[in-house]
Amino acid sequence: MSITEQKLTKEYSRYMWQTDSDVPFTEEMILFTLNAKNTTYALAALSDGHLAHAYYGKHIEDDDISYLLRLGEAPYTATVNIRDKGTVMDTQLFEYPCHGIGDYREPCFMIMDEDGMSSCDLKYKSHKIYKGKPKLVQPDMVTLPATFANEDEAETLEITLLDSHSGIEAVLIYTAFNDLDVITRSVHLKNTGSRRVNIRRVLSACVDFDSDKYDFITLNGSWARERVMERSPLHHGKQGIDSVKGESSHQNNPFAALVSHNADEDSGEAYGFNLVYSGNFFAQAEVTQHKKTRFVMGINHFDFNWLLEPGEEFAAPEVVMVYSSEGIGAMSRTFHDLYREHLIRGEYKDKRRPILINNWEATYFNFDTDKLIAIAKQASELGIEMLVMDDGWFGHRDSDNSSLGDWFVYEKKIKGGLKYLVDEVNKLGMKFGIWFEPEMISPDSELYKKHPEWAIQVRGMEMTQSREQYVLDYSNKEVRDYIYGLMRNILDSANIEYIKWDMNRQLTEVGSTSLPAERQRELWHRYVLGVYDVMDRLTTDYPHILLENCSGGGARFDAGMLYYSPQIWTSDDTDAIERLKIQHGTSICYPPSAMGAHVSDCPNHTVGRTTPFSTRGNVAMVGTFGYELDVTRIPEADRNMIPSQIEQFKKSNPLVRTGDQYRIGNVFDDNMWDAWIFVAKDKSEAVFTFVQVLGRPNYNSRRIKLKGLDPDAKYLSSKTGEVHSGNVLMNAGIDISVHGDFASEVIYFTKQ
Ligand code: GLA
Repeated sequence: MSITEQKLTKEYSRYMWQTDSDVPFTEEMILFTLNAKNTTYALAALSDGHLAHAYYGKHIEDDDISYLLRLGEAPYTATVNIRDKGTVMDTQLFEYPCHGIGDYREPCFMIMDEDGMSSCDLKYKSHKIYKGKPKLVQPDMVTLPATFANEDEAETLEITLLDSHSGIEAVLIYTAFNDLDVITRSVHLKNTGSRRVNIRRVLSACVDFDSDKYDFITLNGSWARERVMERSPLHHGKQGIDSVKGESSHQNNPFAALVSHNADEDSGEAYGFNLVYSGNFFAQAEVTQHKKTRFVMGINHFDFNWLLEPGEEFAAPEVVMVYSSEGIGAMSRTFHDLYREHLIRGEYKDKRRPILINNWEATYFNFDTDKLIAIAKQASELGIEMLVMDDGWFGHRDSDNSSLGDWFVYEKKIKGGLKYLVDEVNKLGMKFGIWFEPEMISPDSELYKKHPEWAIQVRGMEMTQSREQYVLDYSNKEVRDYIYGLMRNILDSANIEYIKWDMNRQLTEVGSTSLPAERQRELWHRYVLGVYDVMDRLTTDYPHILLENCSGGGARFDAGMLYYSPQIWTSDDTDAIERLKIQHGTSICYPPSAMGAHVSDCPNHTVGRTTPFSTRGNVAMVGTFGYELDVTRIPEADRNMIPSQIEQFKKSNPLVRTGDQYRIGNVFDDNMWDAWIFVAKDKSEAVFTFVQVLGRPNYNSRRIKLKGLDPDAKYLSSKTGEVHSGNVLMNAGIDISVHGDFASEVIYFTKQ
């Protein structure tokens, strides 16, 4: 059993300073203990109805850990300490703190009722424990993306809380995975009262840690340098990350970790949190007056409001919590396993993805049927398996200033029509993929002429353009139906086997012409739910199509998107050296097998750097792999390298997709090199990659210790032909001596 409940009756004798006497009292509580693989999480429903947090960390076994609640100590007990309840509320470690009742730390929940009141007090009402994991459903709209598990894989605890004043019921949903160090959390609200309630804030998880001795890790950046890892010790007050842009964003990713000060890749404690959501999010660690840490995460409450009429419900997205007692590397591997097995779905879940060639960096908008066929012809001869036609094939789009929303083939460019082009590409033995930006509308479009009210806007205000485009109001089903209908026409007109779904601007003037005033602040979230709805329809109606998400590069690399698309474009920055940081940071939470990664031309279009073709391949091979260059025009020596690169990719990809990743080097610590190894789950083989940033003088090799091998097994090195034990390779290491700036090397190790 991974979840247990214990009814405990505890006698405490407590010193009451107001009466100067010992006052014994009885506390009746239900202690819930959740065990996930090597993790224990414990909480208690106390006599006064509040949910107190008891423990989160390495697996512990004890009959009774209620002493961790410290109920016999002065500030912690509300049952008899009515006189000082305020102190209790601001001191106790809680599971789901509300606003307005004396807890001045960051709350998870806040309302506004018809009287304009914002205080509420959610108290224990009932609970149930069952096998498996529920779906998170927003009634009448959509099932939210979330991890899934069957009855043998996980167990769920649902605790129903009630705020008797407003009638709001909140069901806290905890799922513990049997074979992974994962506990997921979410919240489902229902208005059981007779009056309307505005939900001002509904975060999905809170963990009150009993210490402040942690470092805070986040993944931050900008366009072309997404998810670069940052780490800093916690300090008094609030430190956090968020998005207010309508998507998860280039700037901050909805991931955060608290790790012990001594944690590194291989040792120390790490608590990772990831919100399965693609819109505005909020994650914050707060060091309190008593040097404890409150961590909270959920939908951003900034500019958010959700009206719950009597009887209405609201589903908050899921927070995935991963615990590791063996460092940051083990935390990442747990996220990777979870997402590969329990989040990513569809036909390509366990399959190698086709090696693609995308024409964006090859041609930008300057292409036609002949050009695409020429690229495809050359690519097919080299072993590339799919041509992806990027932006510019629809409306009258010759640059980024028009036609979004007009998903009709631009016959001037696509001469002979789409079917002809796709058939020709298929005849070459290649699949065909296509680019869409379904959430957008150009001011210069047929659609905007017909339906200017379909753009997100505040009536009477100037609309802010970004990349000369506006955002469609995806809260409006009519808009979604229309766009999806156009997409279907295209998809049904030819043999399309891949879609790149792009999203190239953030939201401004967030208002909807179709929502009533009291529901306008719901638009941020309704927009995201609308996107999920169309993605859900698309993946259900076209299960054979491989969907890749993208947002101006990597602004939507989040777990919500992974539920629909098994791969996501990681960054518009395809430079192999910049990618070391971006892919390192992304792999902290997300599986490398989901990272869109391409070999592009040099000098690199984003940073102007020239790197060896082999290194560009070795770095892209850790992701989904493909090419983004004009293969008819690159240097012959590079072109000639493509078949062997493809062969190498096919060899290493099973390890990247199903094996364990160990990060060995770190460009953040030492700007001179990076290295990683992917090891098969049964430890039978491994692929090791080393990338040197700047060259060093000859005879100056680096000794690098491998990781993750079986210490007792013998491994053959593809480089030296020598056989050494895993023990030697991991403790003594191997010598790496590559020559030149940006040089790299890949070595396979096979168990003998
Ligand atoms: C975004 C994507 C690119 C490309 C362009 C097309 O920037 O990240 O890969 O598809 O849009 O406009």
